[in-house]
Amino acid sequence: MSQSLNQSDPQSKINALRSEIEKHNQNYYQNAKTEISDYEYDQLKYQLEDLESKYPEFSFKNSPSLIVGDDRNQGFERHTHLERMMSLDNTYNQEELYAFNDRLIKVLDKKKLSYAVEPKIDGVAISLTYTNGNLIRATTRGNGIEGDDVTRNIKNIPTLPPFLLGSNLPQSIEIRGEVFMNREEFIRINTLREEQGQATYANPRNLAAGTLKLLDPKQSADRSLQIVLYGIGFLKGPSHESQIDCLKQIKQWGLPSLEKFWESDSIESAWQGVQELDRIRRNFSYDTDGAVIKLNDIQSRSLVGETAKSPKWAISYKFESEKAETLLKKIELQVGRTGVITPVAHLEPVLISGSTVSRATLHNEDEIKRKDLRIGDRVLIEKAGEIIPQVVQFIPDSRKDQKAYTFPNLCPSCNNPLKKAEGEVAWRCHNIACGPQIRGRIIHFASKNSMDIENLGIAIVDQLVSKKLINSIADLYSLEISLLKKLDKFAEKSAKNLLDALEKSKNKEPWRLLHGLGIPGVGMTTSKDLIRKFKNIDTLIQQTQESLLAIDGIGPILADNLIAFFENVENIKVMNLLKAHDLTVALSEETNSSNLVFENLIIVLTGTLPTLSRAEATEMIENAGGKTSGSVSKKTAFVLAGEASGSKFKKAEKLGIPIMDEESFLNTLKPS
Ligand code: IVH
Repeated sequence: MSQSLNQSDPQSKINALRSEIEKHNQNYYQNAKTEISDYEYDQLKYQLEDLESKYPEFSFKNSPSLIVGDDRNQGFERHTHLERMMSLDNTYNQEELYAFNDRLIKVLDKKKLSYAVEPKIDGVAISLTYTNGNLIRATTRGNGIEGDDVTRNIKNIPTLPPFLLGSNLPQSIEIRGEVFMNREEFIRINTLREEQGQATYANPRNLAAGTLKLLDPKQSADRSLQIVLYGIGFLKGPSHESQIDCLKQIKQWGLPSLEKFWESDSIESAWQGVQELDRIRRNFSYDTDGAVIKLNDIQSRSLVGETAKSPKWAISYKFESEKAETLLKKIELQVGRTGVITPVAHLEPVLISGSTVSRATLHNEDEIKRKDLRIGDRVLIEKAGEIIPQVVQFIPDSRKDQKAYTFPNLCPSCNNPLKKAEGEVAWRCHNIACGPQIRGRIIHFASKNSMDIENLGIAIVDQLVSKKLINSIADLYSLEISLLKKLDKFAEKSAKNLLDALEKSKNKEPWRLLHGLGIPGVGMTTSKDLIRKFKNIDTLIQQTQESLLAIDGIGPILADNLIAFFENVENIKVMNLLKAHDLTVALSEETNSSNLVFENLIIVLTGTLPTLSRAEATEMIENAGGKTSGSVSKKTAFVLAGEASGSKFKKAEKLGIPIMDEESFLNTLKPS
């Protein structure tokens, strides 16, 4: 906490608290960053509220104690909510929760009350407007009154249907919920960012918030967001009696809804629900940081009313995240495939949230400096979203003569000098012959989303690189059976399987090869787009900055990365070797001349196709210029349906959208 909060006169204290809270609001709502826990943040707010009530002469209508945080950013259209989006007050123990019940019992003059208990999803608040059943807009909370229009990014969420199912639809409705990112996707993106020297996100919420606010739709399509809906804001149409009915209705409309909630007829049974939620919540695909307890009867809500920023009929109960103290034994520097150096804390093993933690990423030099972590400190560890261990802070009492940490200036692996580019947070080793970089590049090349080379796992890459049998991705194609047999646990058969898989990989689609090259910022979607546009990696190599920038979705950073990559002689040598080994660098005549039959068409897949897997069908659609979507809407060009097609098939029939079977699909793709 900042020094300024130790001021003694009330006005200075109030001002210091206001600016401290505003700084954290700015970080959380605008920059998708968090520096303190929710608990510490609430403590600052309580102190401010307390002082403001004691010294009303210093109260101020725009005080952060009275208004909700503001997530509005430049670059978005704004939209006014038809019903305000509010925040929730927090409770941290059973007594505070029971006091909430006592207040409601008193106002409503009842003996006991019924509640809905729901998970409190740690995501980003969203409001979806459906008019006559059609999704017309998605808006962030903003300042509660108006928010940013993020419809474009929301439409990339495949599980979100663009219209409501069923009859008796409201004329107009705002459906409220939370956008989130699951943990696998969070780890995938953070790993990529770390490798590319970009700042990483501390938790899935921050990354979801950052993704929702991406202005470049291409970048946001490369990151997968999810959504869950739990409430109704403005409503013109048939109303609902209770919160539980709303939750059921949301599910019946076919929207992603809460997988678990509790209906309780008293605060005691609501408390049981809260505790059960705490036991099972780690199985959910979203992070939860608490429970939301809502008065079930909707009519009574207006009698209970609201404060300036939160309803009085609902409250959140925050779960405590488990923390543990341990020793920071050393800081190891890891080298990623793009040469980025990531510091990793080695800790004395400690049990936390059910597993033993002995390492935690420290992200980059700035993070170590900001937390002033020193080797030999005792530190507080927490699991972000109960999953990823983080070093929260050092324990001040343990600080004796530990020396401030100085970030080394030589690569821990090859001893080359480290460099930091302007505007980047990461130090990098620029020696492309540096062992861990070779290893990382080969692992990425062989991975599922790149060349998808079976039988080439990490353990084998480790052996090939450490025994200096290969130095680059191109060397993979010079491997011979006699060499491979010398590897640990490698017999004739496994050696042959690997060579077969490598041979097979030569015919993979060229976007896989382009992605496998590991050019910073060139993900799967960009690789596919570039190949679709240029047909051939050789043509791509010849592009200039200007011609790349002329392509929709390619910005200056990506253009620079592509140019820098293909200007590097070593990279060109590798490309030439790959071509000499007959790897496919161009779209086949067949695909090339397919006239992009599905150009700009949105196609929905459903059921099991007789011969094609979903991935294969998707790829064929994309190669022909089309896009796939998870739900049928008026924009769907046709539905490709197989065995056991369910609701999507029915919806297509209802909307009169053409349905194609695999055979006619394949016929359409045949060159004429
Ligand atoms: S109800 C007016 N229900 O928590 C009532 N909110 O701290 C407010 N949140 O802004 C919304 N899970 O973004 C509600 N089951 C849930 C929730 C939930 C997460 C978020 C929401 C809200 C914030 C308040």
